[in-house]
This record gives sequence, structure tokens and C-alpha cells, in this order.
Amino acid sequence: MPSPYAGALVAVRDVESLRRRVQAWRREGRSVALVPTMGALHKGHLTLMDRAQKMADRVVATIFVNPKQFGPNEDFKSYPRPEHDDFELLNTAGVHLLFAPDVAAMYPNGFATNVRVSGLSDVLDGAHRPGHFDGVATVVTKLLLQTLPDIALFGEKDYQQLAIIKRLVADLNIPVDIIGVPTVRDADGLALSSRNAYLTPAERAQAPKLYAVLTAAAAAIVAGGDIAQALATAQDEILNAGFSNVDYVEARHGETLQPLKAGEQGRILAAAQLGRARLIDNVAI
Ligand code: PAF
Repeated sequence: MPSPYAGALVAVRDVESLRRRVQAWRREGRSVALVPTMGALHKGHLTLMDRAQKMADRVVATIFVNPKQFGPNEDFKSYPRPEHDDFELLNTAGVHLLFAPDVAAMYPNGFATNVRVSGLSDVLDGAHRPGHFDGVATVVTKLLLQTLPDIALFGEKDYQQLAIIKRLVADLNIPVDIIGVPTVRDADGLALSSRNAYLTPAERAQAPKLYAVLTAAAAAIVAGGDIAQALATAQDEILNAGFSNVDYVEARHGETLQPLKAGEQGRILAAAQLGRARLIDNVAI
């Protein structure tokens, strides 16, 4: 059923307007959900919006391609920015407010603060993308403090990001519940991602193998198989599937992201390069 608010989306670009609207809802006794995004919205994002609508009276989506979380050789400039389509998708989804600041509004001259979650930010993707998670932690802290929502929703596809955000919210006593939402996949298993747009048709056909390999490795570990052996096999199979490089394929504790010990529950996480696209994925153990 379409949301009764479909078509009523309001977009604001400055923090004062965002705060004014959220405060007005607060005075009416409404609860507020925040869904931060970098735009280029797909079904995964819309699932977050849908979940947010079920959990709160009002939904604020943000679109901000955050320069601080891109490395110097990464795709900040070419990152897709289909602003009109994104607005229409949020509007149709019944989101109430879009906060879409520009870089100067988020990082005005003189901006000098960096939020860093030690340990969790240094492993896995953090080891391959120096500074990435500091950029994520800094912008998410700002978005949470700018909006002061009751809940904020993030996809489990970026599992390490989710673990870092949960940690920083606990450490900084930010009064918000962080909700992780399961990864949305295409029918063939490929996790939805804005960067899937970089895949050629041939690469798109190879890409689901990443999820298939991780699922098989998780099953082998759950069945009592040796963790190191399962990960080595997974690495070989990802390369055999046509990926040019595997940055990591690791079994980690679900909260601390420390290496998984036999018998523990956790996640298998991987990042691998396929053509222009660096795909990340993870599955539960
Ligand atoms: O997951 C993303 O899209 C981004 O990392 C986030 C959380 C919106 C911060 O820029």
C-alpha cells in the first residue's frame, strides 16, 4: 500500500531548516527515524526507508556524498549523483524530509574535527582504505547530532560500518538506537550496491559468485570445518570466478571484529575487485 505521505517530500539543505522541522515534529509528540545515504538509491535503500516508516512516525533521509570517506584515488568525483531520480524515489516512498547539504554546509572553512573509532576502523576495509572509516564516523556523528532522531537505520551490507557506528554511539552517549537492516540481494544473490552500476554485463554475471562462495564457507565452518581452510578455499574460488583481486576474506566476531574462534558466532566478510567495481559482502556464521 502506498504511504499516505507519498508526494509530500520536502527537501532542505541547511541544518537550521532540518532542526526546525524535526523540532516541530517533537512538539507534536512524533518519533523520528534517520536514514543516512549517499544517494544513487536502490531497493536496498528503499527497504531501509520502509523499515524506518514502520518504526517511527516521521522519516528523514539524508543524501550527502561525503568527501571525507573517499581516498585520493577513489571515485568521489565519479560517484553517481542522480539527484532528480533519488528525490522521486524518496517522494514515492513517502519519506517526509530530505536533508541534502552541500560540502560547504557540512564542512565549512575551519572544520577541524575528526571522529575516530580505534581498533574497529583499522581492520578489514579499514586496512585497505586508510581514513575511510574516520570519514564515515565523522559524518555520521554530525548527521546524528544535527537531526537528533530516535532511531537511525543502516544496512548490514556495510557490516563493519554498522559495527563502528554502534560503537561510536555507545562511546559518545548519543541518544539514538542504531538499527541494522539485513542486506537486500538480487534474485541471484548479488548484494545491492550503488557501485554495481560499474559492472559490465559480463562482470554482472560473475558477481553473484562472491555471495555463493561466502555462503559455502560459512556453511563449512558451521559444520565444524577448519576456519583457515574454509577461508583459503573461499579466496581461491573468488579468484577462480574471475575477480582480479581479493583484498580480504575473513571470519570475524560479529561485534569486536576480532578473528573468529572455533565455535563462536560471527560473520565472514570479504572485499574483492571485479573490473572497476570493488565489491564487499558478508554473511552470518
Ligand atoms: O553507507 C553509506 O551510504 C555511507 O557510508 C553513509 C553511512 C551514508 C555515510 O556517508
